[in-house]
Amino acid sequence: MEKIESLAKRRGFVFQSSEIYGGFASSYDYGPLGVELINNVKKAWWEAMVQENNNIYGLDAAIIMHPRVWEASGHVENFSDPLVDCKDCKKRFRADHLLEAQGSIKPDLEGKHEPPVDLKDIKCPNCGGELTEPRNFNLLMKTFIGAVENEASQAYLRGETCQGIYVNYKNVVDSSRAKIPFGIAQIGKAFRNEITPGNYIFRTREFEQMEMQFFVHPSEADKWFEHWREKRMAWYKGLGMKDDFIRWRQHAGDELAHYAKDAWDIEFDSPFGGFQELAGVHNRGNWDLSRHGEYSGADLTYRDENNEKYIPHIVETSDGVGRAALAFLLNAYEEVETRSGDDKAKHSTEIVLRLHKKLAPVKAAILPLSKKSELQKIATELQDSIKSKYFTQYDETGSIGKRYRRQDEIGTPYCITVDFDSLEDKAVTIRDRDTMEQDRIKINEVPKWLDEKYSK
Ligand code: GAP
Repeated sequence: MEKIESLAKRRGFVFQSSEIYGGFASSYDYGPLGVELINNVKKAWWEAMVQENNNIYGLDAAIIMHPRVWEASGHVENFSDPLVDCKDCKKRFRADHLLEAQGSIKPDLEGKHEPPVDLKDIKCPNCGGELTEPRNFNLLMKTFIGAVENEASQAYLRGETCQGIYVNYKNVVDSSRAKIPFGIAQIGKAFRNEITPGNYIFRTREFEQMEMQFFVHPSEADKWFEHWREKRMAWYKGLGMKDDFIRWRQHAGDELAHYAKDAWDIEFDSPFGGFQELAGVHNRGNWDLSRHGEYSGADLTYRDENNEKYIPHIVETSDGVGRAALAFLLNAYEEVETRSGDDKAKHSTEIVLRLHKKLAPVKAAILPLSKKSELQKIATELQDSIKSKYFTQYDETGSIGKRYRRQDEIGTPYCITVDFDSLEDKAVTIRDRDTMEQDRIKINEVPKWLDEKYSK
């Protein structure tokens, strides 16, 4: 993890938020390469979920919604962590984490625990002092709307993006003539006042989710649940996640969230405490639409072509953008024996980030062998011919070995070298990050060559 954090900072993937002010706990910013990576993750998800399915519709709902939404959703009542304070040193802990450390309960799931049963033998892990009784601490982030700060003006930043989907379910049916089974997909920020954020971008208070809610006939919920479980796992594996790096875990009955009938997590092999939740697929039954119907008074029943009326059941797929980016980075990170030819390098090993081509921030690096103006001219013209389609980097400083090393550690799949022969043969050399093979390609054929590589 330290290696990933240091690489991510050094090369502009992830920065500590507000760093010049000493940082702000558990907030992170995505730098020039990080924003490319997360945009690529989101694009790959949108393609797989919205573009490739004729019956999945996109949405971008507001972050601040009617406060009643969060009463109906159950979050005001149930979305809390049990906290205890040390009576001596005043430190605060999550009760379920203390029990977990003692082996009394299984790992938690994103803060949806009822107060645990029995804490009486547990002492403060910091000073050994006595702990208070557990109290529930709600994870919704509060804000106030308008000039007066009182209970009537209180609102919440959304705790999960899917609620914006539920309240728009009727709008999508009416405007898009959506017929069950169909889905609504959304990517956006969510906020939770996590008590124990941590592990870098794994658990933060502000994070981005990619969620899809699939509306089905009650009798078909199990079938679609299996369908989406398969699809989500295939998506991660299709983007290069190794077989032994991710796995399934079903939630036990006592750890199911308040809305869930059945829930499975895709977990990844983390460097902090073994396998951890990466994403989830949830069978939410008709909880959400029934509750929103009840709390809003709107009729959220669906009437099919045979005039059967019912409240649709929902199968949800829920993925975190930051968490996915972290898992993709960890999965891709490799240290290899020196191979770039950078003979002035300080270390005998080099980093290669074997990111899937679709996710790699830089698609092609353009490397003129020298700073001679004839080579610069060819190199910039070549860059101009591909840059509207591919995110490129132009690098002419340092030895070619050093430049290969720089591109390898940010996962650039192709390095294009312009050399003195290029002046004569109008061709360039393209080096493949993974095979290390070098192809000599005519300059005017490079756009087509890249199109072929990136269409696979
Ligand atoms: N709508 C269902 C839902 O929100 P969840 O298991 O609480 O379910 C889904 O969250 C996903 O969102 C998680 O698998 C994770 O990828 C991401 N996520 C949740 N809390 C997070 C946090 N504090 N920081 C980063 N990602 C988080």
